[in-house]
This record gives sequence, C-alpha cells and structure tokens, in this order.
Amino acid sequence: MTEPDDFFAEPREHSQTKARIVSKYAQGWARILTDFQRGKNIEPEVAVVDLFSGPGSYEDGTPSTPILILKNAIEDIKLSSALRTYFNDHNIENCESLSEEISQLPGLPRLRYKPVIISEDATVETLNRFQVPSSIPKLFFLDPFGYKAISVALLKACLADWSECIFFFNYRRIIAAVNNPAMQQNMLALFGPSALTELRAQLAEMNDVLARERVVLDHLKKALGKLCTGVQFS
Ligand SMILES: C[S@@+](CC[C@H](N)C(=O)[O-])C[C@H]1O[C@@H](n2cnc3c(N)ncnc32)[C@H](O)[C@@H]1O
Repeated sequence: MTEPDDFFAEPREHSQTKARIVSKYAQGWARILTDFQRGKNIEPEVAVVDLFSGPGSYEDGTPSTPILILKNAIEDIKLSSALRTYFNDHNIENCESLSEEISQLPGLPRLRYKPVIISEDATVETLNRFQVPSSIPKLFFLDPFGYKAISVALLKACLADWSECIFFFNYRRIIAAVNNPAMQQNMLALFGPSALTELRAQLAEMNDVLARERVVLDHLKKALGKLCTGVQFS
C-alpha cells in the first residue's frame, strides 16, 4: 500500500477524534499511574511511546496526537515532572517537523524529560534504541497507515512488562489482504500460519460485516494470546 501524501494536509473528522481520544487517554492513564506511584513512595515516572508519530500538526495548523499529549503534560503539574515521551516516524521530514513543533510549544521547559525523536522503520529494535527505562509503565501508540508495519512480534514487545498499547486496525483492509497473495507475508506476521488459514476459511463463509470484523479480532486475540500471557483487549 502506498502512503497517502495528502494525509496531513488537513485533518478529517475521524483523525481529530482519534487524536483527542488517544491524548486524553494518555493523560488519564499517566495520572492514574503516577498517583499510584506517589502513593507507594515510588518516584513518579511513565512513558508514552509513539512509533508512527507523524509531523505533529496538520498543514492547516491543527495539532495532532504527539503535540496534544505534550501540551496536556506541560499544563498538568503532576505529569510535567513525570512523563517521558518517545516519537518515531520513518519519514525524516515528519520528524524534523515534529521536532520544530515541539520546540515552539509554550511552557516546554516545564517538561522534566525532553521528548526523544528518532526516524526509522518501526520495529522491535526501535523500542530497544529508545532505551526507555525498563521499570516504568509504558503506553505505546501504533498508528501506521494500514497494517503493514504491525506484526505480532511488535505487539508482543509493546505488551511486555507494565505496559498498554493502543493500535489502529482497519478491518476492511485486513479482510482484503487476507486473500491477497501479495500481502501474504504481512498477514503471516500478524496472525501466524495456522490462524491465517483458519481465518481465510471462516471469512469465506461469512457476509455480515460485523461478523467478519469479529472473526478478524478473535484471530488477532488468539495470535497474541499465544505469545503473551495476561493480555486484555478493550
Ligand atoms: C496515520 S499517520 C500517524 C498519525 C499520527 N499518529 C497522528 O495522530 O498525527 C502514520 C505515520 O506513520 C509513518 N509510517 C508509516 N509506516 C511506517 C513505518 N514502517 N515505520 C515508521 N513510521 C511509519 C508515516 O510516515 C506517517 O507519518
């Protein structure tokens, strides 16, 4: 799948909704965990890791997820001293734009930890390169275009230890890809061989859109359940 070159021209409604949901969730999540740490006399420290961050704002100036997360942290005294942030995008121009946007944020010096930005194809290795302290809770955000960059191995790495992961999943594209030989490797990375065979057989028997979505999600849950214990979906 080619990447849409007008994605960041101006935000569609669903992109704004997504950015609002994810940034609010990140703030609530970070508050709950840092309050918990304070209650246990642990130095409050949490990390948000966004592997597909984009340029920070749309061309019309509308801020997107990374900028909203950082703005919330700057304005929240409990988070400004506790939140570490890590951003990656394989497009170097997006990283440069994000870096510039961050440098212009009013109140940036209030953040104890400077945001870390790297530019590469997101893989498990990227997580190692960030060197996020292993003992702190982490919230991962995986929002590539489509599904190409998401594998069960990456999801597993994002769900290790004390972490949560928000990822976007386009059922329509997945269902189209399941039977497309050109997408075989991506689908194998996502579901594994036996689940993929079973999924193909089940989808062939189904027409109802919601039922098809449910069966895709069930197989993803199964694939993840095999690799990670204690995984919960919501
Ligand atoms: C949907 S956009 C992200 C939007 C961003 N989450 C936001 O809320 O503004 C997807 C981004 O992922 C980047 N990307 C796509 N494939 C990638 C990969 N394999 N590794 C790293 N970045 C990738 C693209 O350059 C693009 O900026």
